[in-house]
Amino acid sequence: MHVSARLTLAALALASLSLLGPTQAPAQSQQMVAATPPMGWNSWNFFAEKVTDKDIRGAADQLVATGMKDAGYVYVNIDDTWEAERYANGVLHTNEKFPDMKALADYVHSKGLKIGIYSGPGPKTCGGYAGSLGHEEQDAQMYASWGIDYLKYDLCSFIPAVMMKQAPNDKAAQMKLMIAAYDKMAKALKATGRPIVFSLCQYGWDGVWEWAPALGGNLWRTTGDIDPHWDRVYTILEQQDGLAKYAGPGHWNDPDMLEVGNGKLTLAENRSHFSMWALLAAPLLAGNDLPNMKPEIKAILTNKDVIAIDQDQLGKQGTRAYSDGEVEVWTRPLSGGAMAIAVLNVGDNRYSTHPFHLNLTKLGLHGSQAGKDLWSGKEVTLTNEMPIELASHDILLVRIAAPK
Ligand code: GLA
Repeated sequence: MHVSARLTLAALALASLSLLGPTQAPAQSQQMVAATPPMGWNSWNFFAEKVTDKDIRGAADQLVATGMKDAGYVYVNIDDTWEAERYANGVLHTNEKFPDMKALADYVHSKGLKIGIYSGPGPKTCGGYAGSLGHEEQDAQMYASWGIDYLKYDLCSFIPAVMMKQAPNDKAAQMKLMIAAYDKMAKALKATGRPIVFSLCQYGWDGVWEWAPALGGNLWRTTGDIDPHWDRVYTILEQQDGLAKYAGPGHWNDPDMLEVGNGKLTLAENRSHFSMWALLAAPLLAGNDLPNMKPEIKAILTNKDVIAIDQDQLGKQGTRAYSDGEVEVWTRPLSGGAMAIAVLNVGDNRYSTHPFHLNLTKLGLHGSQAGKDLWSGKEVTLTNEMPIELASHDILLVRIAAPK
């Protein structure tokens, strides 16, 4: 089924959290699962239901060959459509596209990478394949036995099959059932003893950011699906404002996987999408065709300075400082007292931002600020009310080492 059609279907149906502070010991954070936002690649945005074992091996090879692995992309995540039927003993088998999951996991691990898989709490996945309902422990144990390092758990058919069936017309009871289903898989994963990143995919329902960390969620989708169009990327970006306080080491808001290099996104749009996901401390899961990646797309995905913003140890998500007409200014506090500033031209119909003037006072800064433009790689000095000219959908991303 088409993604948007499936999500329309989903839409129809329609704890306490301890933030770990900057003083957290580094040794502890190294052991923590998803101490920084997970980075890797996921099959869905490019291959969708066509993905095969060969594509996953190819992606692993390319992460190494392109330098993406060295830049931090370690998870190779198989999305939906690997599942076949359950046998009488309840064991779920892979379909012909994935003849031997253990061998595939071993292959990915042999490259120094990690491997992720996909399921959901309902009887079926979003793509109509077998889900984990009633087999949560069994599935979790099987993932662990294969050596799986990451699970994306997608709500989809749990909505009509359980929530609407068991609690028709009772939204609150439906949400309780949903939370219990995620809690069940979280416990099943924990019981395996294997560190497995737990990614909640339920489109941001019921303030997931408020309850997911307490049950052990490492990331949670905050919205419906992304697609490779600027309007969608921007709509998702707008929905992230206000969620910053819920993110931190081990638990992240997930505005969905990257579309960098997909569809008809322009170079400026790809750059802005990547910059803003870094500013949001979002998981960076590339979703493009790695074997056919253009050099300019590789340059975006492997920009080490931008990745360093995303992966900053402080783990504080950025926020929108102000907007002025069609220009938005976002900032993110970084470890060591540094700061990232993003100036984004979201205007569609006007080619350039001129005459936009950056107001540093609104960012709590005084006087000129020495920094680095992370896309040109050049040193820059920002001054109050300096004019900044950006083409439509382009971005200026600056790191200020010692903001005053
Ligand atoms: C949903 C999810 C997507 C993807 C598909 C797979 O739409 O939100 O990210 O996993 O299901 O069927």
